[in-house]
Amino acid sequence: MKTKQIKRLAVLTSGGDAPGMNAAIRSVVRMANCYGIETLGFLRGYHGLLENEFVELGPRSVSNTIHRGGTILKTSRCKEFETKEGLKKAAQNLEDNNLHGLIVIGGNGTCRGAYELGKFWKGQILNVPSTIDNDVYGTDATIGYDTAVNTGVAAIDKIRDTADAHERFFLVEVMGRKAGFIGLNVGIAGGAEEIMIPEKKQSIETIHRHLCSGEEKGKKSSIIVISEGDEAGGALEIAKKLKSLNGCEYKVVVLGHTQRGGSPTAHDRILATELGAFAVEQFLKGKSGVSAGKRAGKLVLTPLKLAWSKKKSLNPFLLKLLPILST
Ligand code: F6P
Repeated sequence: MKTKQIKRLAVLTSGGDAPGMNAAIRSVVRMANCYGIETLGFLRGYHGLLENEFVELGPRSVSNTIHRGGTILKTSRCKEFETKEGLKKAAQNLEDNNLHGLIVIGGNGTCRGAYELGKFWKGQILNVPSTIDNDVYGTDATIGYDTAVNTGVAAIDKIRDTADAHERFFLVEVMGRKAGFIGLNVGIAGGAEEIMIPEKKQSIETIHRHLCSGEEKGKKSSIIVISEGDEAGGALEIAKKLKSLNGCEYKVVVLGHTQRGGSPTAHDRILATELGAFAVEQFLKGKSGVSAGKRAGKLVLTPLKLAWSKKKSLNPFLLKLLPILST
């Protein structure tokens, strides 16, 4: 008698953690369980895949995790995985564990790693985009981005009170080494006077002139949101440059890793739930080498190569509005 082969799937989280990663793991594990698929979780991202460090996952392994930031599987950035030897070793470990598929949850670098691994392993590989930076192509938002923006806006609301009370200028630095999604949206939602992001080139002199014209129009305090990846430097550097132009004191707040932590918003939990379950469904349909995403309300797949290499555009309407609304 022919015995039915049970499908085995692995999941891992890699790169910078993002709120909602746990909700995505939970969704993958429980959806897989619903279809009778066994799931295991590699620990510390690609590092665990190379070291063959994993845990078996069942519905109870993911209890009480939907609201938690971080990742129960831990994460890391793994240089060895970028080498041919590392990729071969990872492929061998996947074979040795009789796995049919791997779902990776992470950002741009994770997605690229998954694409490279596909050259060495014949199993199915799917990506679930999760990074606060929102810089994965093929999905309107990545898991964790909404929470990070809300964390930034909550901080700005508090800063605004003290900026107003003391009639001061504040420079608030947000994350996003190569992408200005957080900077733009935090700037818009926080009512910032100006934003400085990698995608928008503007000189310190322009910012200085904008602040001066604000003062002429009666503004007593101002908030500038700066992406850590802006070409003019970080907020501390920019504060020094502005001071050298106008002699003013600028208070600097670097939000840093606070944006990576915390309980995911309902939006991120729902997106993570949808994308995790969708990835399992697509695995069952035999799909591979793709990144799950949600665009204009529809669940979609994008080839891995495009997902990590194609530049996602910022919302041009918001970019146009910022200077108009901050007058
Ligand atoms: O995960 C994305 C991100 O938070 C970027 O916004 C930031 O530049 C980077 O990771 C920081 O990484 P690390 O915590 O490894 O220094």
